[in-house]
Amino acid sequence: MNVLVVGSGGREHALCWRLAASPLLGGLWCAPGNAGIENEARCVALDPMDFDGVVAFCREESIDFVVVGPETPLVAGLVDRLEAEGIAAFGPRAAAARIEGSKSFMKGLCARAGVPTAAYRHAVSLAEAEAVITAWGAPLVVKADGLAAGKGVVLARTEAEALDAARAALGGAFGEAGAALVIEEMLEGEEASYFALVDGETVLPLETAQDHKAAGEGDTGPNTGGMGAYSPAPAMTPALCEEAQERIVEPLVQALAAEGASYTGVFYAGLMLTADGPKLLEVNARFGDPECQVLMPRLRSDLLAALVAARDGELADYDLRWHADAALCVVLASRGYPGAYAKGSPIRDIDAAEALDGVTVFHAGTRRAEGGIAAAGGRVLGVTALGETVSAAQARAYEAVDRIDWAEGFCRRDIGWRAV
Ligand code: AMP
Ligand code: GLY
Repeated sequence: MNVLVVGSGGREHALCWRLAASPLLGGLWCAPGNAGIENEARCVALDPMDFDGVVAFCREESIDFVVVGPETPLVAGLVDRLEAEGIAAFGPRAAAARIEGSKSFMKGLCARAGVPTAAYRHAVSLAEAEAVITAWGAPLVVKADGLAAGKGVVLARTEAEALDAARAALGGAFGEAGAALVIEEMLEGEEASYFALVDGETVLPLETAQDHKAAGEGDTGPNTGGMGAYSPAPAMTPALCEEAQERIVEPLVQALAAEGASYTGVFYAGLMLTADGPKLLEVNARFGDPECQVLMPRLRSDLLAALVAARDGELADYDLRWHADAALCVVLASRGYPGAYAKGSPIRDIDAAEALDGVTVFHAGTRRAEGGIAAAGGRVLGVTALGETVSAAQARAYEAVDRIDWAEGFCRRDIGWRAV
C-alpha cells in the first residue's frame, strides 16, 4: 500500500517510524513532514489544509491510504473530502471530529448520552457570560468553544479572572474559536488519559499513556501541548480503563453513530479522576502528542493493518499486542515556549543520543540547515527511550537528552515523576 501521513510533528514522526516497519507498506510520504520524518518517508511540501492539493498528490502517487495526524484538517473535513474522491483515509469525518472542534457540541453530546462531565453553560455574549459567572461564582473554567491550539482554556480562581478570560475570548483573542464560550465548574482530582481505536462501533483500547501539560517542573507554569509523556500510566488501572470505556467512550461513540456522525479514528479522552469517579474533560479526535511517541515504540502489532481495520469497520475481532517494556519521552523545546521563541538555532549530536540502546529521537519542529539540523518550532525534539520500568526508561531518556548539543533548548527534568 502507498501511504500518505498528513502532519509535521513528533506524533507524525512516530507514526511514520512505525508505519515504515509494516510488511503491507509500499511507498510512504508525509505532508509536509520535517527533517526527522525525512528518514522514514518522502516529505512533500503540501499544506494539510490545501485539500485540492492533497487530493491531486494522492492521485499522482497512487496513494491507497491517508493517515491524518492533526485535528485542524480533521475538523475541517479532510477525511470527508478524501473518501468522497475514493481515497481511503484514517481519522474521523468532520461531523464526528466536532467532538474536539466544538466544546459545546461535546458537552451537549455528553448530556444526551448520560456521560459524566463538569456542569457547564454556553455563552455567546459578555452579558451571558457575566450572568453565569456571577450566578455560579469562582472557581470556574472558561473555554473558547472552538480549536485554539490548547490555549483557549483559563482556570479562573476569581470572578474577575473569569470575566477577563471571557472578555478576551469574545474580543477575538482566539479568532472565530472564541466567538462562543463554554463555562464550566472546576473539577478537582488527578488527570488521566484514555486512548482507543474506534471503527464506528467497536472501541479497541490502546495501551495507557500520560503527558505532562505544564511547562515547568512539578507540573507548574503555563500549559503547553505536552512537555513529555510515559507509558504505561499507572494512574489508569485496568478497572479505571474499563470504567472509562463503558461509562464514557462507548456511550459517546454510540450517540455519535445514532446521530449520523459515526466515529472512526483515534478517540483520546482527557479525564479528571474525581471523588465521584472519572469525568470527561475533553475529547481529542487524534493521537496525543507526545503520547503517540511513547505508544508507537511499545506497539508490537502492525500499525498499518490496525488503522486500515479501524477505517474498514473491522475492529470487532481485532487484537493489538504490546511490548512489556515501558517508554518515556522527554520533549526538548525552544527557550521561551509556550511563549515567544527564536527559530533557526543549530542542534548537534542527535545521532549520539540515538546510539544509546532503546532510544529514538522523534522530530517535532526541525528543518534541514547547512551542516545539520536547525530548530523550527516550539516543541522541537521528543527523546524517547524504552526500559524495563518507567524509571529505567526515564534514566535512559535523560542520558540521551544530555548527549544532545542544543544551547537554545530546554526540557523538564522530571518527566514521569508520578510513575517512578
Ligand atoms: P481542555 O482543553 O478542555 O482539556 O482543557 C485543558 C486543561 O484545562 C485540562 O487538561 C485540565 O488541566 C484543565 N481543565 C479543563 N476543564 C477543567 C475543569 N472543568 N476542571 C478543572 N480543570 C479543567
Ligand atoms: N498532549 C496533549 C495533546 O496532544 O493534546
